Amino acid sequence: MTGRSRKTSDTTPRDEPTARDRARVEALRAEIARHDALYYQQDAPEISDAEYDALRRELIELETRFPSLFDPDSPTQRVGAPPAEGFTTAPHRSPMLSLDNAMNEEEMRAFAGRVARTLGLEDPDEIDFAGEPKLDGSGIELIYENGSLVQGLTRGDGRTGEDVTTNLREIPSIPAKLKARKAPRIASIRGEVVLPLAAFESLNESRRARDLKPFENPRNAAAGSLRQIHDIDHERLRCLEFRAYALEEGRPRRVRTQMGLLALLREWGLFVSPEVDLCHGVDAAVAYHDRMLERRGSLPVEIDGTVFKVDDLALQAKLGNLARAPRWAIAFKFPPEQALTILEDIEIQVGRTGALTPVARLRPVRVSGVTVSNASLHNQDEIERKDLRVGDRIMIQRAGDVIPQVVRARIDRRREALDEGFRLERRPSPTHCPVCHAPAVRLEGEAIIRCTNLDCPAQLKNNLRHLASRDALDIDGLGEKLVDQLVEAGLVVRLSDIFALRLEDLEGLERMGPRSAANLIAAIDRARRTTLPRLLIALGIRHVGQTVAELLANHFRTLENLLAAKKSEIAAIEGIGPIIAESVVRFFEEPSNRDELARLRELGLRIEEPPPQPEEAGPKPLENLVFVLTGTLSRPRPEWKKRIEAAGGRVTGSVSRKTNYVVAGTDPGSKVTKARELGVEILDEERLESLLSKADDRVSDNA
Ligand code: IVH
Repeated sequence: MTGRSRKTSDTTPRDEPTARDRARVEALRAEIARHDALYYQQDAPEISDAEYDALRRELIELETRFPSLFDPDSPTQRVGAPPAEGFTTAPHRSPMLSLDNAMNEEEMRAFAGRVARTLGLEDPDEIDFAGEPKLDGSGIELIYENGSLVQGLTRGDGRTGEDVTTNLREIPSIPAKLKARKAPRIASIRGEVVLPLAAFESLNESRRARDLKPFENPRNAAAGSLRQIHDIDHERLRCLEFRAYALEEGRPRRVRTQMGLLALLREWGLFVSPEVDLCHGVDAAVAYHDRMLERRGSLPVEIDGTVFKVDDLALQAKLGNLARAPRWAIAFKFPPEQALTILEDIEIQVGRTGALTPVARLRPVRVSGVTVSNASLHNQDEIERKDLRVGDRIMIQRAGDVIPQVVRARIDRRREALDEGFRLERRPSPTHCPVCHAPAVRLEGEAIIRCTNLDCPAQLKNNLRHLASRDALDIDGLGEKLVDQLVEAGLVVRLSDIFALRLEDLEGLERMGPRSAANLIAAIDRARRTTLPRLLIALGIRHVGQTVAELLANHFRTLENLLAAKKSEIAAIEGIGPIIAESVVRFFEEPSNRDELARLRELGLRIEEPPPQPEEAGPKPLENLVFVLTGTLSRPRPEWKKRIEAAGGRVTGSVSRKTNYVVAGTDPGSKVTKARELGVEILDEERLESLLSKADDRVSDNA
């Protein structure tokens, strides 16, 4: 996407889609439909909510830009797998904001300090905070008209949510009528729908009994229950609980504090967390947080921190809101939860580049709301450093969506392991690949052990999966199972074979109908037209991901130029160092890789012309400006990055004094805190958009 001459601030759809746009829309629809089916029908999601949302947002954006691509069957027209009968969406009366996070006491105190300073107070101990548990569920807005429930929306993107009124009506803690003598004409009540832990356990038990995959955690189970469309399981809805924490509209004048407001919500018949408490000053807030942390394991619902809101509503108004979150509230997150479990085995996995990675197989254990049964151990050194032995009692932890980590072995509990018959032996580093049995080597200076067989089927499978992935050649429908089948049937022996597949080859595969075979051939055919960065990613060159691929493509423009480049020239590109350059040059020096490239071209692979370079198009208005993107953004990050870079800016991963702007989406976390500390300007997406569209204007003016 160049976007350079397009004034992106102008949202009137007027573009005609290119073939690429059409293909992308099709691919997104298929991908989303697949994930919907996994989520709603098989209850076996493969991707995180954030990844799913990013796919949906990209599709919505394309469909809005190109109304000619409208399709009533598009997954955007529904929520959940079954078409046509999905939830409608509706705008929130005012945006449903998120909260900034404090990850530790220091950040909590910094927040209180900022509040005090903004209010012109000397001492953060003069401020009263309402302390509340941070509920880990689904944010919901309920609209009551003259005391009667008329609408319930999910948070959605904060501006628009899904209308789940019918399902919400079944939740016992959501009253159909407010118990108010004189209810306001409109009351907008916000809170969280949660699934209490006891109900979560029994729900999963009954799912297991019916051979259904259990839910990962109460949050997913609650969100899934709320979005049921077909064959609604009413029992599941009745298990849900709504806990109210805000009255956005409809507050009587006499209520002047957050605590007063919570009391009013209780009077009206809503359920408010019984744990809420008034904290006089920041010390009391920190003490409340510590108390809740202690009680965390014995509460009926899952919480992932505490929330503090300036209690005085007039002061809240004075402090005001930022684009994504109020200045008067903070979510003080709990540290990653740790759990004790048993290291039952250490298995070796073969990666795309032949890396043999040890993986810990664990006795399943719940930590931060998720059942964990595997954890990566990264490499042999790590196993040795932590002195991990099969049978060890180990501590594991999980922070947010992050992959579980093994913290340490409980050496003090080895006796128990021995009593249970574990021999507590050390696992030596692998000498052979577990898949093809070729010798494994450890290169000097590297922590990683690799399989030496370039034709190792495990590597080929991984490479093929990678080649088909979204940022690479994006071959829709070429998933893990199919890759396994193709390699095992000997239809793909080297990567380029994928472009030599014929319909007849596929039709012979188990469980492959003629329609799917034809679809796959069509998808492969579409992938033949690609771009240089996509091809570079697809080749699976070590250290070459999206960023590096784009840097290389921008610099060299054509594959021929890149093939002719010296290592020093590649290493001189900003953002690429000698290690990456070495890896690129080595890859293209390898005769078998050159053969593969030649064969790919023979089989019809075409690299599309790159867009004109910014230099050719005009000046770079964001020249020398450094951006950091954080939080959940409404469009995929690579897209923002591309546009910032096209305008001459740079995007880096961490906030420092050199950062000019931090762009904050929802739930931005500690980068925003850091930015505030350093006085770095924080932008929301709209402001970024306006900077970019100014950039676009200027570029096109000069073109
Ligand atoms: S107040 C303007 N209070 O956490 C303030 N939110 O990470 C809006 N949440 O989107 C939210 N417990 O869905 C508030 N006691 C609580 C909460 C709470 C959980 C959720 C809420 C919000 C998210 C932000």
